[in-house]
Amino acid sequence: MLRKATIDDIEKIYKLINDFAAKNVMLPRSLSELYENIRDFFVYIKDDTLVGCAALHIFWKDLAEIKSVAVLESCQHEGIGKKLVMVCKREARKLRIAKMFVLTYVPEFFEKCGFRRVEKETLPHKIWSECVKCHKFPDCGEIPLIYELNKNNGRGTAS
Ligand SMILES: CC(C)(COP(=O)(O)OP(=O)(O)OC[C@H]1O[C@@H](n2cnc3c(N)ncnc32)[C@H](O)[C@@H]1OP(=O)(O)O)[C@@H](O)C(=O)NCCC(=O)NCCS
Repeated sequence: MLRKATIDDIEKIYKLINDFAAKNVMLPRSLSELYENIRDFFVYIKDDTLVGCAALHIFWKDLAEIKSVAVLESCQHEGIGKKLVMVCKREARKLRIAKMFVLTYVPEFFEKCGFRRVEKETLPHKIWSECVKCHKFPDCGEIPLIYELNKNNGRGTAS
């Protein structure tokens, strides 16, 4: 089941994200960052257990970032990651956001979700102000991809 995150989910989201961050496959998030941004988060619940999360963070009038997409290893390859991306797209559409971007080490997964690779320099300067706060700046190695919601409006929510 997919739903918006609640306060009770935050410590589980923290563990899910930071267990992956410890393996260097995604960036870590602090508890305070998660509490402050709780309204960005969706979670996936399977058998009463939180097994996945994703966040949609609004950047600017025409731009949102999808971040912290994670699915528990034992539940991967069941379509949960794709569903989490889909629900973020749906919310971005509702908010009338034109474009979503992601910075990721798994571009192939996001390509399967309809995103396309772009040069980092083509993203607005606003994102760099966030990047400079990151301990991996400037050599994070993350690959930027975008998804244009207007162009893909007629295609439903499947991609
Ligand atoms: C990346 C991740 C979220 C994918 O979650 P998932 O639930 O396994 O993904 P899905 O089952 O929805 O897969 C959707 C599609 O992407 C493909 N895919 C999934 N993970 C992939 C990967 N690592 N590399 C390439 N393709 C991948 C699947 O084969 C599937 O393809 P299909 O539609 O042709 O069947 C998950 O592997 C994960 O949590 N990884 C660790 C954290 C991470 O790297 N997060 C991304 C940070 S931005």
